[in-house]
Amino acid sequence: MVQERESFRSRTGSVLALAGSAVGLGNIWRFPYMLSEYGGGAFLLVYILCIVLFSLPIMMSEFIVGRSSHVGAADAVGQLEPRGLWKHYGILAVGIPFFTLCYYCVIGGWTLQYLADSCLLSFRRAGTDEAIQGMFGNLVASPVRPVVLDGAFLLVTALIIMNGVHKGIEKCSKVMMPVLFFVMIFIAVWVAIQPGAGQGMAYLFRPDFSKITPKVFLAAMGQSFYSLSIGMGILITYSSYLDRKIGLTQTAVSTIIADFVFAIIAGCAIIPALFAYGMPTDQGTGLVFKTLPVVFSRMPAGGVVSVVFFFAVLLAALTSAMSLFEVPVSWLIDRYQMSRVGASVLVFVCAFAIGALCSLSFGVLSGFTVGGRVLFDLFDYTIGNYLMPLAGLVIVIFVGWKMSRNVILDEVVGYEYAQNEQYHRRWRKLLLFMIRWLAPAAVISIFLSGIL
Ligand code: PHE
Repeated sequence: MVQERESFRSRTGSVLALAGSAVGLGNIWRFPYMLSEYGGGAFLLVYILCIVLFSLPIMMSEFIVGRSSHVGAADAVGQLEPRGLWKHYGILAVGIPFFTLCYYCVIGGWTLQYLADSCLLSFRRAGTDEAIQGMFGNLVASPVRPVVLDGAFLLVTALIIMNGVHKGIEKCSKVMMPVLFFVMIFIAVWVAIQPGAGQGMAYLFRPDFSKITPKVFLAAMGQSFYSLSIGMGILITYSSYLDRKIGLTQTAVSTIIADFVFAIIAGCAIIPALFAYGMPTDQGTGLVFKTLPVVFSRMPAGGVVSVVFFFAVLLAALTSAMSLFEVPVSWLIDRYQMSRVGASVLVFVCAFAIGALCSLSFGVLSGFTVGGRVLFDLFDYTIGNYLMPLAGLVIVIFVGWKMSRNVILDEVVGYEYAQNEQYHRRWRKLLLFMIRWLAPAAVISIFLSGIL
């Protein structure tokens, strides 16, 4: 079975698939908003520090587990350590991405609608700002549209995954990611030449160290985990498809840089646009679906920019959804020897059934709440605040304290070890320290801050 296992075929393809999972709504709306709110340039320094000290070691831990076990996230830990409770990690590793997929595709569906609205020039035609902003409320309150859109988005994702790791995920990422990159650059440049945008740029990056509090550290850490798809089983599953010759450190660093660059470009595209058109910068979730359509309705060539922008959001959401979809599919294939098509159909049906309920959270099912939260928010809150940090914690403790150091050494530096022994020995020591101490401390503090 090991020989038959699918894999990525090239280093570029592997990095682009990983970057595809990482780059998503987290980069496009969450990061720009945090950057402008939490001290601009000063937040940027904190964010970089968090990535290097905490996210990199956790990402490396997931890579080490994935590639050394050579199976998807569900069975990876159990395969390396069949004794004790470790094998139950698989439940988290499949459950989290599956349930995330259920509500992530709802947002993907909204994006489809907004792309269609942009093509039909609906924002321009709506007339007033209130009418444009009201379109979102109408969409999510409808009893049919969000369900159909959710299904359509999920179906596209399923069709890509059915084509396999190389032909589906890798090939699509190789096309989508460069397109996404150029599209975002185009928007950033167009926005930069609008009058008043310069002020927004200054606001975005001005370093304000007085805003850096412990809370901001936690926010930066949480953002870097979410943005890099850490604690989801995704990195384990994707790294199990990595070729032995590919250096894990290089792959992790390339993925991190790609994610960071996208976040910065998105920041340069969005915040200055809000400034140029006098819109508030603190709209959180409303930013993409309420505030930006108003900006586009006022901007010269806004119709085109709007189409291009929602197309970019769609691509970003799609490559992230692919990675979520792949985790349960690879589990069904590895564990139950299902065919890829059969596994994809099964995941599609289950995710659609639950996703349909989530997509009605703001309409028909808005009265159905658990702990005061509608279904969609409940998924988002529970996964983001509890389950992802928990899964991240288990994996770093496993790699740092349970796995053999030789396996770690083999995985991290094996391939290039002979070339620069001294350097790699030092890197491995530092990495082990980060995995054993820094990363768990970081995850525990996020965990506690979510609870307290
Ligand atoms: N990393 C994605 C983003 O930045 C979000 C995501 C998390 C997607 C986990 C898939 C899995 O938006």
